[in-house]
Amino acid sequence: MKITMIGTGYVGLVTGTCFAEFGHHVTCVDNDRDKIAKLIDGDIPIYEPGLDALVAKNVQDKHLSFTTELAAAVAAAEAVFIAVGTPSSRRGDGYADLTYIYEAAREIAPHLKDYTIIVDKSTVPVGTARQVSRIVKEVNPDADFDVASNPEFLREGAAISDFMRPDRVVIGVESERAESALRAIYQPLYLRETPIVKTDIETAELTKYAANAFLATKISFINEMAVLCDEIGADVTALAKGIGMDGRIGSKFLHPGPGYGGSCFPKDTLALMRIAQENGHSLRIVEAAVEANAAQKAKMVKKVRDMLGGSEAGKTIAVLGLTFKPETDDMRDSPSVTIIPALIEKGASIRAHDPQGIEEARTLLPQNITYSENAYDACRDADAVILMTEWNQYRALDLSRLGKTMKQKIFIDLRNVYSPELLKEYGFRYVGVGRS
Ligand code: UGA
Repeated sequence: MKITMIGTGYVGLVTGTCFAEFGHHVTCVDNDRDKIAKLIDGDIPIYEPGLDALVAKNVQDKHLSFTTELAAAVAAAEAVFIAVGTPSSRRGDGYADLTYIYEAAREIAPHLKDYTIIVDKSTVPVGTARQVSRIVKEVNPDADFDVASNPEFLREGAAISDFMRPDRVVIGVESERAESALRAIYQPLYLRETPIVKTDIETAELTKYAANAFLATKISFINEMAVLCDEIGADVTALAKGIGMDGRIGSKFLHPGPGYGGSCFPKDTLALMRIAQENGHSLRIVEAAVEANAAQKAKMVKKVRDMLGGSEAGKTIAVLGLTFKPETDDMRDSPSVTIIPALIEKGASIRAHDPQGIEEARTLLPQNITYSENAYDACRDADAVILMTEWNQYRALDLSRLGKTMKQKIFIDLRNVYSPELLKEYGFRYVGVGRS
């Protein structure tokens, strides 16, 4: 099928490339000329494992191309996916900013030729697809089109495998034509027997928010259990196993940590709360999950202070990992963006390392951080080391070498990567999350 993808951000680029890999002919459109020029040169603007090779392969096979010329790309397409950004609005009220979605609808409308399905891929509040449909009809009353919702469930760092081996595909459609177009697009998943969940459009829109809010709640739940474990001397990793093996609960997303971050959970939980409020309800469980997440970050600061004997002032702290999770360069709403400034404010000096995030970190974190070449360099003369993000590079550190470079052997493992016993063997004072 001929597919046009509007927006070459994270979702648009990964989805467009994977559709090309399926065998469709995909044109990715963006109004950012620099970005398109770079993509044409094979320069991928984000770090996502495997994406550069997949883009190069599909460009070479002539299944994937990049352009700023929206008109021609839309006119030639059987399906147009809208994958532009929906950030939290600048008013800071939690609402999703839909400016880019509606702009895209206005720009697409005049160029629609034969029957076209317009698909919302971006995460958008309930009612957005209907609004897109209204805009298209207003601009081009003769257009032959359907609007559908097809939310994405891609995790950064694992987006390509999530796309190629999804647990399910959700399609929100209102006509048989739209349904069969979307089924044809996802036909390559047929062999894997991937379930296609067909819903109405509003349900599909809400499903995306509900999925992210549920996962965020699951994380906040285990983080609160971890706090309780710390208090009473229990072990949260064993507890997570004990509950996770119950099929009704499931073992995934039960890893305690410094709080969830990223471009999705923080933004989508707030947007879902706003959707509920507008409809006269409050989602108290989601509200509690959001509050618990903020509290978790604050508790991590306290954990560091306690390990340093009650004060961070004058101490040098090494931080390993800055991004909100491994295998990404994304720093948006990363716990490090809250925790590090709080430590600096109390007088700590920070030496940090991250395999991919340093460039973005420089723009988001205080200026007086020293960025190191590697983990050992970051730990030199440090009073404590915080393992903030569980990159593979930090999972098998040479603990004897690390210990020799540090002023005090204090290891604060905010991702429970190491066994407390092992760290003790190497003479470290160790604290994890919920394993005291
Ligand atoms: C999330 C969802 O997992 C995707 O399904 C969804 O498509 C995506 O948002 C989106 O809306 O676009 P992502 O934000 O990339 O994906 O990353 P996750 O792997 O979900 O992790 C989010 C945060 O939760 C990270 O900070 C991670 O460290 C934290 N986390 C995750 C935990 O603290 N514990 C866990 O057990 C799992």
